[in-house]
Amino acid sequence: MKIIEAFIFDLDGIIVDTTHHHYASWKILAKSFNYDFREEDNEQLKGANRMTSLNILLALSGQSFSEQDKGLLCEKKNNIYLDMISNLTRGDMLPGVYEFILNAKTSGLKIGMASSSKNARATLNRLKIDELFDAMLDANDILRGKPFPDVYLKVSDMLVVKPQQCLVFEDAFSGIKAAKEAGMRVVGMGQPAQVIQADLTIDSFVDLDPTQIMNIILT
Ligand code: BG6
Ligand code: MG
Repeated sequence: MKIIEAFIFDLDGIIVDTTHHHYASWKILAKSFNYDFREEDNEQLKGANRMTSLNILLALSGQSFSEQDKGLLCEKKNNIYLDMISNLTRGDMLPGVYEFILNAKTSGLKIGMASSSKNARATLNRLKIDELFDAMLDANDILRGKPFPDVYLKVSDMLVVKPQQCLVFEDAFSGIKAAKEAGMRVVGMGQPAQVIQADLTIDSFVDLDPTQIMNIILT
């Protein structure tokens, strides 16, 4: 039995460089209720689903809205975001990640994607990389988002690989927590404070060898 049978990737900030688009659209939204949303606070929103992100933003700003208005604010943020990513291409993928996934696939690993975004399928479609994945789930498919482990557990189920045999790639604190709660090993890429709980941290996917990563993670 091989110890690692599958790689599961987060989407935003791991496969595609959309973090600044999410941040910029929340910033525009926050401006509409006179709040200056700063980049250092954006770390808290990474990996969180849309409504959770809005709730964090409102808590930071000290403001509150009705559930109905919050729904409208989420919709408004999403429209700004969709507009920003309308021209997304493979050039917006994180450097080296496409080759890394291809190499992992060629070496016989199953490939999954687990995202907190409701736009995940549309994003993969736009990048034309759907065919790389043996299983994918996003925020449309699960009730409890990251940091709950549900999305990772469900993807490992779909891949028919035990959680202990999955290696996750994540950039957010909440995502790493979700994967660890699922009993998986995690490679973190991002700000040191956010990825502190990962089993291994990397700076980029450029020239990264899947076999080497597995050897390091298993020693
Ligand atoms: C996560 C991002 O992947 O998806 C968050 O890290 C984002 O920043 C969340 O808020 C929800 O995305 P969406 O596309 O459903 O609004
Ligand atoms: Mg992410």
